Amino acid sequence: MISPSMEKELNDQLNKEFYSAYIYLGMSAFCSKNGLNGAANWFFIQYQEENAHAMKFFKYLGDQNIDVVLSPIAQPKGGYTNLLEAFKASLEHEQKMSEWLNNLSDLAMKEKDHATYTLLQWYVTEQVEEEATFNEIIDKLKLVGDNGYGIFMIDKDLAARVFVDPTI
Ligand SMILES: [Fe+2]
Ligand SMILES: [Fe+2]
Repeated sequence: MISPSMEKELNDQLNKEFYSAYIYLGMSAFCSKNGLNGAANWFFIQYQEENAHAMKFFKYLGDQNIDVVLSPIAQPKGGYTNLLEAFKASLEHEQKMSEWLNNLSDLAMKEKDHATYTLLQWYVTEQVEEEATFNEIIDKLKLVGDNGYGIFMIDKDLAARVFVDPTI
């Protein structure tokens, strides 16, 4: 049995996953506008991953017979000046997501909602991987600084990413 407060929180988290997707779609557009086609590909795949995260909540809400509330998706901030800035903003966002998922996990534990708690553990683990990935790319970008060739090589690496649905 899912409590009304958990019902609201899960719907909010569903929206936050779509918002994450939206942020990365914006970053993908920023990258392709600036000739960083590899990074544009990387962020587009991140957008697809966040959509998959959202759909995992969506499916859970359906399985638990909870009303799905599709709220408006907030407009991402944008206005990045370079790739490092976009990745730093991404990491900050992921850290916030991790915190929200942790809080949600606390609530599930408090309410002895084992099914939701188990679902949330998947997200908590996924967040560790997400933060590590962003950190790794930020480290590389810091190493190359403003060096055009370095950015070019990183962009080439980012072009190699392919979408694998993390939820299946
Ligand atoms: Fe996510
Ligand atoms: Fe994420």
